Amino acid sequence: MLRKNVILVGFMGTGKSAAGRALAKLLRMRFVDLDRIVELRAGKTIARIFAEDGEPAFRALERQVVAELATRRGFVVAAGGGVVLDPHNVEALNRAGTVVCLTASVDAIMARVAGDTTRPLLAGERPRERVEELLAARKSLYESFARRVDTSALPPREVARVICGLLEGAD
Ligand code: S3P
Repeated sequence: MLRKNVILVGFMGTGKSAAGRALAKLLRMRFVDLDRIVELRAGKTIARIFAEDGEPAFRALERQVVAELATRRGFVVAAGGGVVLDPHNVEALNRAGTVVCLTASVDAIMARVAGDTTRPLLAGERPRERVEELLAARKSLYESFARRVDTSALPPREVARVICGLLEGAD
């Protein structure tokens, strides 16, 4: 039987995709990045969805993709950083699998997202201030998850191992 999904949430640059891939390898599960599914559905990049259709259009697609997760098993899933903004998404994710929230210091986040042009929310003039602002606004949402891993000083494979430890007894 396919194992229950493991779903990684957390702010941009906390390493969800990298750790998710490493975890999938370790657990011999399939990996899926929800942002990539949204892009496939829309037929364009997230940057273009934001620019041409607006953030609400992106959030609507994201909500749809999250809702569909409940019908799947056997995946390690990386969700977009803002998925937690909608309480329905949080409920759906908790129903769809075991959710683990990745966290990281502002310095680690900045190092990871530096020079990246694919994240529209950080595309402005002062990305560090923007990161601090968004993190403060979302703090309580990320902290609401019981399983959390600080990835600031850990390479993806180590994060995957720590997550494995947290998963014991979760199935
Ligand atoms: C977002 C995070 C991004 C992507 C979109 C919005 C956010 O995903 O979904 O740009 O609101 O935090 P990553 O966390 O994978 O960068």
